Amino acid sequence: RAMAIVKEFEEKCGTPEGKLKQIADAMAVEMHAGLASEGGSKLKMLISFVDNLPTGYFLFQFIYFLSVFLDEEGVFYALDLGGTNFRVLRVQLGGKEGGIVHQEFAEASIPPALMSGSSDALFDYIAEKLANFVDEEEQIFHQPPGKQRELGFTFSFPVMQTSINSGTLIRWTKGFSIDDTVGQDVVAELTKALQRKGVDMRVAALVNDTIGTLAGGKYTDKDVAVAVILGTGTNAAYVERAQAIPKWHGPLPKSGEMVINMEWGNFRSSHLPLTEYDIALDVESLNPGEQIFEKITSGMYLGEILRRVLLRMAEEASFFGDEVPAKLKIPFILRTPEMSAIHQDTSSDLRVVDNKLKNILEISNTSLKTRRVVVELCNIVATRGARLAAAGILGVLKKMGRDTPGEGPGGKTVVAMDGGLYEHYTEYRKCLENTMSELLGEETKSSIVFEHSNDGSGIGAALLAASHSLYLDEKL
Ligand code: BG6
Ligand code: GLC
Repeated sequence: RAMAIVKEFEEKCGTPEGKLKQIADAMAVEMHAGLASEGGSKLKMLISFVDNLPTGYFLFQFIYFLSVFLDEEGVFYALDLGGTNFRVLRVQLGGKEGGIVHQEFAEASIPPALMSGSSDALFDYIAEKLANFVDEEEQIFHQPPGKQRELGFTFSFPVMQTSINSGTLIRWTKGFSIDDTVGQDVVAELTKALQRKGVDMRVAALVNDTIGTLAGGKYTDKDVAVAVILGTGTNAAYVERAQAIPKWHGPLPKSGEMVINMEWGNFRSSHLPLTEYDIALDVESLNPGEQIFEKITSGMYLGEILRRVLLRMAEEASFFGDEVPAKLKIPFILRTPEMSAIHQDTSSDLRVVDNKLKNILEISNTSLKTRRVVVELCNIVATRGARLAAAGILGVLKKMGRDTPGEGPGGKTVVAMDGGLYEHYTEYRKCLENTMSELLGEETKSSIVFEHSNDGSGIGAALLAASHSLYLDEKL
């Protein structure tokens, strides 16, 4: 009976190449629809107001201007909220040689209670951490007098931007659910909290983590045109032709381009291989009916899907003996990093699996066969997620007309990748890469390249703050 449950689950999770191509096509169709009109698709295709990505060369020029006009080096802060950890960074762009000369950062986790409390409580917490960091940094590096500090704010949730440094929260995703922030301008919320803490700081740029990653990636490699986050949540951003965005009624950017935050986590299609476990997970989630693609692809949910299948096997097929292990009934107890450790256990007696089952779920004395089945389930869940992420990327490349060799301006397209799932879950990443080769074919190997843009989003936010600095505008 237990094996019948596994088999049925595996079949329902199937992602043969043909299905992935249908999903990629559906993604491209939804992209068009989301660009055509507001609310035209589940894909929000949000306009980022970033129409000019800093390249290393641009930055070099920028720093040249800074040194000529300001006689000082540029220091920018960045704040990154929405991944597993909340971070604050201080980036010093400087010297006549250009480049990032210094970078410091501090990291903290957001206490779970703040993720569903009040808006003020969350922003006060963030502002306090930022204030402490600024204090520490400025004991070493002095802020030039008379110059307001500037910040790039990476806020990794769907935001309807009204300018490069303002935007209202459409809804929370991932583990956050704070009703009174929805509909508010998150920059105003942060600025008020900073004022309450007595910190004089101006938010110069508000960006999604995908936009930050794109900016950070482009700074080191000019061929970066797409950014994908595979972490707690999942999302992608890419450079679109401004004329291909019918819903954009603003002035045509000089570059002719606009970066789009797709919010692809909310993608949905009848081609997606959904199982009863996914449907139950969605119904019981903080945001039922939303973020369906994210719920079968990203780090917040993979371990939870595994738990749900194991629970059913325990209840209906006594998979772990007569008793259903009590811990197995606790939602989200099996986190994706643990699932990854289970999946990647290479010991002959599957010791890691045994340990994890004991330590997390209090299940002891499992047979080797049982452990093997658990590993197999991890493989099914991770494979489906990674293959779907690959199909999503193919959809974006198709929409951009870059899914065949030599289609980019320089003949090359680089996809900047980041997020804990991509970074740490090796089997997932390998499967994603193999699926990309399967979908794109060998001929594109040298023209479509995937690069890990490590913590690019914080740096990218600081770079975007720099290129939207008030001081630069005033002086130039
Ligand atoms: C980080 C980026 O590396 O990855 C963040 O700097 C991003 O901006 C994060 O939000 C996503 O990954 P995770 O696993 O922390 O959700
Ligand atoms: C969620 C957020 C999105 C973010 C992604 C990755 O999908 O809605 O804004 O980019 O997670 O962090």
